[in-house]
Amino acid sequence: MAITATTLLLLGVVQFAHSSPIYSSEEEFEFKSWMAQHNRLYDLEEYYHRLQVFTENKKRIDRHNAGSHKFTMGLNQFSDMTFAEFRKTFLLTVPQNCSATKGGHVSRNGPYPDYMDWREKGNYVTPVKNQGHCGSCWTFSTTGCLESVTAIATGKLMLLSEQQLVDCAQAFNNHGCFGGLPSQAFEYIKYSNGLATEDDYPYTARDGTCQFHPDLAAAFVKDVVNITMYDEMGMVDAVARLNPVSLAYQVTPDFMHYKEGVYSSTMCHNTTDRVNHAVLAVGYGEENGTPYWIVKNSWGTAWGNKGYFFIERGKNMCGLAACSSYPLPLV
Ligand SMILES: *[C@@H]1O[C@H](CO)[C@@H](O)[C@H](O)[C@H]1NC(C)=O
Ligand SMILES: *[C@@H]1O[C@H](CO)[C@@H](O)[C@H](O)[C@H]1NC(C)=O
Ligand SMILES: *[C@@H]1O[C@H](CO)[C@@H](O)[C@H](O)[C@H]1NC(C)=O
Repeated sequence: MAITATTLLLLGVVQFAHSSPIYSSEEEFEFKSWMAQHNRLYDLEEYYHRLQVFTENKKRIDRHNAGSHKFTMGLNQFSDMTFAEFRKTFLLTVPQNCSATKGGHVSRNGPYPDYMDWREKGNYVTPVKNQGHCGSCWTFSTTGCLESVTAIATGKLMLLSEQQLVDCAQAFNNHGCFGGLPSQAFEYIKYSNGLATEDDYPYTARDGTCQFHPDLAAAFVKDVVNITMYDEMGMVDAVARLNPVSLAYQVTPDFMHYKEGVYSSTMCHNTTDRVNHAVLAVGYGEENGTPYWIVKNSWGTAWGNKGYFFIERGKNMCGLAACSSYPLPLV
């Protein structure tokens, strides 16, 4: 009998439904350890589906790490998800209006230090937070930046509310768990007269009705400063002289499993219409001749390098210079 592709497929399905001999015991062991570590439980059908996704992710990670790259990949809380699922849950899925053709940031001429890290300059950067299952990265980029600029101006570091931005900033083209932009969130804070603290307006990772009232305001924005699109030296100027800077860029499948080192990709695009994730640049440096940004993410401390990542600097990598901004604090 000629074994056709269909027969093979059918055989595969039958085997799959029984005891899954298509996976080695090592693969299943790895998956079960990962499940225990991440507190995952699935019903039987889901288990085999997730095992398959996990095994494909693991192969990708191993293949990447066996090659020669500036960064390594590793398992993390996303390892049982396909990129399509990951994208739908965590990233901005529609193009944002991010294009400051002429920003308000005015650069000086340097010289700039070779290395800058606001985490080491003083108590200016709050701990890494976790956005959960909500496309609210833009609110974390916003609070992270306002927390830092306020601390630099006042000496007082406080945690600010993402949920207020999720619930209340719609009038400035922000869409709660369905996306937004830091520059538009800074505008909201400026015109709504302030942002509450995390304690006063806690994060739920869900769209809700706006509960802000002016008594809750704890941090204020005097003005919003955009950095002209694709002016990455302007970003260096701002981070070197002034404060951390909010930025957006395009996340592609090779980023999902970033572990450490300088992320650099040939998969991502570099234009304003492709950015799908907002984060916070808290510093920059150079390693083995590769300049990089030090970036605070909002996927918890277990992701990446204690919640941070490095990304190549100086090439508008993945569009990271497409729409960066920061607020001037009102203190
Ligand atoms: C900054 O850029 C945003 C678009 O991201 C725009 O809506 C806003 O008007 C700009 N603000 C200033 C002060 O130029
Ligand atoms: C971009 O701006 C236009 C005009 O203000 C608005 O209608 C549209 O919803 C905005 N897009 C997003 C994704 O916010
Ligand atoms: C985007 O990348 C292409 C190809 O590498 C390059 O030619 C172009 O100048 C880049 N555009 C921007 C805005 O950085």
